Amino acid sequence: MLETLPIASWTGPYAPEMKARALAGLESGAVLFFPNLAFALAEKEKQFLDARVSDGKAKNISRDPSGKLQSTALTGKPAKDLAAMMARFADSTSSLITDLLPYRDVERARTSFRPVQVKGRSQSKISDDRLLHIDAFPSRPMRGRRILRFFANVAPASPRHWHVGQPFEDFARGFLPRIGPDLPGKSWLYEKLGVTRGRRSLYDEMMLSLHDTAKRDDSFQANSPHQKVDFPPQSCWLVFTDMVLHAALGGEFALEQTFHLDIDQMAEPNLAPIRVLERLSGRSLS
Ligand SMILES: [Fe+2]
Repeated sequence: MLETLPIASWTGPYAPEMKARALAGLESGAVLFFPNLAFALAEKEKQFLDARVSDGKAKNISRDPSGKLQSTALTGKPAKDLAAMMARFADSTSSLITDLLPYRDVERARTSFRPVQVKGRSQSKISDDRLLHIDAFPSRPMRGRRILRFFANVAPASPRHWHVGQPFEDFARGFLPRIGPDLPGKSWLYEKLGVTRGRRSLYDEMMLSLHDTAKRDDSFQANSPHQKVDFPPQSCWLVFTDMVLHAALGGEFALEQTFHLDIDQMAEPNLAPIRVLERLSGRSLS
């Protein structure tokens, strides 16, 4: 479930044995854990370790690849400095991924900064990431593309506390018979109304249903097999969050970088969720 890699630098070259372990672990659904890799904050950036940096409305502050910052209460120079810190994180994680993994066509998506303590946040079940889930977003159709996320715990003292659930195939096999039939025309309508950016595919509908059904199922949340993981301060981890069941139960001050890639970039595309769901459902989901 955890593949621990003793990498201590954001740039390679990394040992071939390390690269092989990283690729095999990641694609088979492990969380790559880097206990010796810290994302260091400059002295002036430590002012951002404060929940008031958030505008209080969204869970996360996000920076899109064009540099636009959203959901922060900061303005002027401090906002610029926060954006610069997040851009440095995006650059560092991109360079590590390029040097560690064989993927050559990776899209750099959003960067997020999570300055609010996870514990005690109140929200609806569907948006509550303290519940076990796979990532699937209503407004962002992936059409089979993968969601790869790099996390860094930048809190001075508190660990980031996660649960990591059962393998994707076991999870999907249990839930597929329960997810509702697709509504004909729904994806077309959502695209026209601007709810989604681009049209959702059958794959997206299925992933969203799996996400929602799992979060609403109290018995699954309480009883399904999972492992507790504490990511210490100054550590990082990397995971395909569209495949690995995860829940973030506690912690403050994390940075996260999202990457997207086509499954033909993978060494073993058959392990991708779209291929697993196609095998289990007996239909094409493209
Ligand atoms: Fe998630």
